[in-house]
Amino acid sequence: MRIWKNALLAGALALMSTGLAYAEDVKIGFVVKQPEEPWFQDEWKFAEMAAQEKGFELVQIGAQDGEQVQSAIDNLGAQGAQGFIICTPDVKLGPGIVAKAAANDLKLMTVDDRLVDNEGNPIESVPHMGISATKIGEAVGQAIVDEIKNRGWEMAEVGALRLSYDQLPTAVDRVEGAISVLEANGFPKDQIFDAPQAKTDTEAALNAATTVLNREAGLKKWVAFGLNDEAVLGAVRATESVGIPSENVIGVGIGGADSAINEFKKAEPTGFYGTVIISPKRHGYETAVNMYEWIVDGTEPEGLILTSGQLALRDDYQQVRQDLGISE
Ligand code: GLA
Repeated sequence: MRIWKNALLAGALALMSTGLAYAEDVKIGFVVKQPEEPWFQDEWKFAEMAAQEKGFELVQIGAQDGEQVQSAIDNLGAQGAQGFIICTPDVKLGPGIVAKAAANDLKLMTVDDRLVDNEGNPIESVPHMGISATKIGEAVGQAIVDEIKNRGWEMAEVGALRLSYDQLPTAVDRVEGAISVLEANGFPKDQIFDAPQAKTDTEAALNAATTVLNREAGLKKWVAFGLNDEAVLGAVRATESVGIPSENVIGVGIGGADSAINEFKKAEPTGFYGTVIISPKRHGYETAVNMYEWIVDGTEPEGLILTSGQLALRDDYQQVRQDLGISE
């Protein structure tokens, strides 16, 4: 009996000293920069699915600036969480986030937007899951080129709106991927116009695009691309507000969440021609499971995972969603 008791005690001590935890004790934070955006709502939804499945507690926090990030991390520490996943509002907060996580004894993973150090280089010690931004941008560019040809447009008569948010490396990679394909197909460089967004939402994109459209009023046909669906939707709304008909607009976004799907469902086609669907399930569910396994059995997640995308158009989005296993 005594031996048995001692063995139990020793087991418990071993568990404690290696930091292993039981599922019901595990608490994981999922912090996102733009909680109202459908992409992040979906990430949360799938992270919660992982929580239900594994039996841990998920704490969802929206943090839209550096101060909110700091208090979110302190809050998670005070609640006894063991780790968190974050899509930061600003990648330059990287060193601060790493330090705060360590101070609170929290494991840290990033999703979507990769932290950078003081020199602007990615912080490779933090496991990250993001999209393969350049390749996905190229898919956007190819879809635009194909549709320019399909509509029989002369490249020389078309303007391109580059909805930009250049402080975010993945945003730069996405738009530059699109531009490389446009240029390789003869799109004139000097007809690609930067429309810098103050924020990564539709309203900011609408404002940015409107300025360019008013300035370049001589051009009557437009293509648009950017960081995500919200950027391109903002550009499409801007073309509508200055009276450019939808058949003169080819916008291709990145995302494929409700903002894009609702657009496809409209009775009349808009200038929002397509989107490259990416996977909130992989980004939400997988990162949460990876964090859970890291906490429970010490398996450190892969350092860098890049996920792929699939082009969907107004005409075929239902089929594409079905093929991807995401139709309702
Ligand atoms: C960034 C964008 C989001 C979404 C994700 C995907 O965070 O702001 O809209 O595209 O990347 O990784």
